[in-house]
Amino acid sequence: KNLSIIGMPMDLGQMRRGVDMGPSAIRYAGINERLKPLFDEIHDLGDIPIGRPEVVVDKVSNLRNLDLIAEKSTLLAEKVDEAIQSGSFPLVLGGDHSIAIGTLAGVAKHYKDLGVIWYDAHGDLNTAETSPSGNIHGMPLAVSIGLGHPLLTEIGGYFPKIKPENVVIIGVRSLDEGERVLIKEKGIKVYTMHEIDRLGMAKVMEETIAYLKERTDGVHLSLDLDGLDPNDAPGVGTPVIGGISYRESHLAMEMLEEANIITSAEFVEVNPILDEKNKTASVAVGLMGSLFGEKLL
Ligand code: ARG
Ligand code: MN
Ligand code: MN
Ligand code: MN
Repeated sequence: KNLSIIGMPMDLGQMRRGVDMGPSAIRYAGINERLKPLFDEIHDLGDIPIGRPEVVVDKVSNLRNLDLIAEKSTLLAEKVDEAIQSGSFPLVLGGDHSIAIGTLAGVAKHYKDLGVIWYDAHGDLNTAETSPSGNIHGMPLAVSIGLGHPLLTEIGGYFPKIKPENVVIIGVRSLDEGERVLIKEKGIKVYTMHEIDRLGMAKVMEETIAYLKERTDGVHLSLDLDGLDPNDAPGVGTPVIGGISYRESHLAMEMLEEANIITSAEFVEVNPILDEKNKTASVAVGLMGSLFGEKLL
């Protein structure tokens, strides 16, 4: 089994600078050394070139940096597509969560029924109409189920990328009104913090795995570090208290590895400027270890 690491140093989907350094922070935290024993070969494909584009605030569309995000996402989609074609597992390092638009555009064309685990404090189900912020990092899941600006939903030349019933959101504790409506309307499966507290993470993951196994032919893990509690992962731009613990997160990753269902992954929203001694990137690398089968004994 081979791994392809792709850095996506894009911070255009939100307003806090520093998340563009996420891929560097994660590499600095030792991703290569940590994952080396778990794969035959690791190919670090470097970063998608983002440059330092000028931030464009389009008050009309309520979509901040729309054109740039569309352009850069297309590049990411191509790289991810190539990695899968070469038989390698694609692992994308963010960047803010808007990068999922490009990742999923590259992944989903390889599956008839791609499943997605959205591990996040947020639903990221806004559209231009419902977004309180205009920040595209609050929209990638909506875009991927086909809702949003055509420049985003049609990346990769096909549409939509995933079916709402193939999505499981885990860890959510902050939703905007339009996102609540959409979850109900589309019947998206959600485990809020309430269910994690009540059932325990083991049960939540058992159910998630069983649910996705019976309806999908591949599963993408989109892990936003703000899904974890800010005490465990402080280096994120939109922290929300009362999150998933470090231990619960490791359990979740281990259960996914045992079930052998994950076919692509991304770790997003690591912002070393807001972090404490690169703790959040280190947590991300540790979770990757568990996801890819690191064993104590
Ligand atoms: N719901 C808020 C918004 O649309 C916050 C989204 C946060 N998303 C994230 N990927 N951290 O602006
Ligand atoms: Mn090779
Ligand atoms: Mn997110
Ligand atoms: Mn989030």
